[in-house]
Amino acid sequence: MSESVRPRHMPSALLEDLAKLDCFGRDERGGFTRLAWSRELLGAVQWVAGRMQEAGLATEIDAAGNLIGRWEVGERPAVVIGSHLDTVTSGGRFDGALGVLTGLDVVRRLRAEGFRPSRPIWVVAFMDEEGERFNSVMLGSRAFVGESIPPDEADRVDAQQVSMGEAMLTWGRDFSEVLAAKHIDDVHCYVELHVELGPVLEAEGVDIGVVTGIVGLIGLSVTLHGITNHAGTTPMAGRRDALVGAAKAITALRDDALASTSHMATVGSITTAPGGANAIPGTCTFSIDLRASTNEGLQAARRSVDAILAEVCEAEGLEARVTQTYSLAPVPLNDEIGEVMSQAAEQEGLSRMRMPSGAGHDAMVLASHVPAGMLFVPSVAGVGHAPEEFTADDDVARGAAALTSTIRELAR
Ligand code: GLV
Ligand code: MN
Ligand code: MN
Repeated sequence: MSESVRPRHMPSALLEDLAKLDCFGRDERGGFTRLAWSRELLGAVQWVAGRMQEAGLATEIDAAGNLIGRWEVGERPAVVIGSHLDTVTSGGRFDGALGVLTGLDVVRRLRAEGFRPSRPIWVVAFMDEEGERFNSVMLGSRAFVGESIPPDEADRVDAQQVSMGEAMLTWGRDFSEVLAAKHIDDVHCYVELHVELGPVLEAEGVDIGVVTGIVGLIGLSVTLHGITNHAGTTPMAGRRDALVGAAKAITALRDDALASTSHMATVGSITTAPGGANAIPGTCTFSIDLRASTNEGLQAARRSVDAILAEVCEAEGLEARVTQTYSLAPVPLNDEIGEVMSQAAEQEGLSRMRMPSGAGHDAMVLASHVPAGMLFVPSVAGVGHAPEEFTADDDVARGAAALTSTIRELAR
């Protein structure tokens, strides 16, 4: 275990910004809920836009709801620092927000030291990285790079049956214009700082993770159909209970992933219909999130899902309908940017290690289009997507130092 040195500089403005962002979407569990296109997220985006303007950046909220703050310098393609301000339900304080606010702090620091970039520097908060509300993971970065967005995404509804198209209108944005957010042709490279959301850096006692690649993801929505009937009069034998089928499938998915060396499988949400205590659930809908670091691993996991559902349906007299809600291929990040980041960390006297990311990030969308790199800072106890997610001020300071040196080099 290496010994961390105290950071040379405490970024007081960044720490204050992080604390002020707490006003937006804090919930009763102490977590943060700023779902895509929500009022809470809009408040956060508008507040950060104001902070960007105070730092001298020209701001825009684009057609996909991405906040862009531009330090305009001539016509060359920009160095982009990005992450996101949206969260999962009751997520942590740092996931995404740290990357955006640190990007802004880097700009403040570079301006204060009289740095003259040779190309524009943009700070971007992408819309809907988490994708929880509408299963529209990374909508903002997908639009930013100009990927075609399937039209059916506009019709996806949240738990209150509000469609994404309707929710976008509350921000004055029209789904049919989402690709006006394509900015990738003006981008030179992409850099993202993020909390690790896992246990490795803390366990190894290392200050900075330089990310080598990002895991691939497939999201599925599964509905099992059986037969609803009376809880008291229907014999136990021969029932076609969709929730019992789901329970068996979920356990089998867990066991299969436990036995696999290549993939992870998580069921994070489940609903039944009709949903009363005294009726057999005739319908059960649940999510499956599959992750693997290779395409082969991801496809093998997908095949396992089909096999497990077929077996459960056969045994329980059910029918399964499966729709894919997201799919992002695993991507390597750029070695040269990784080397710049590693040297930047070294210059700042920080220990560092190369590591893969098990979480998805906007960088994985950007990486297919421009050289992209990521820096991780430690997460206490490896907690992510929970209110207890935490990163210490000293680690925030170390990350800010490494990111500042990285941008000084990339925009020199
Ligand atoms: C994004 O945070 C993900 O990995 O789910
Ligand atoms: Mn997240
Ligand atoms: Mn994130």
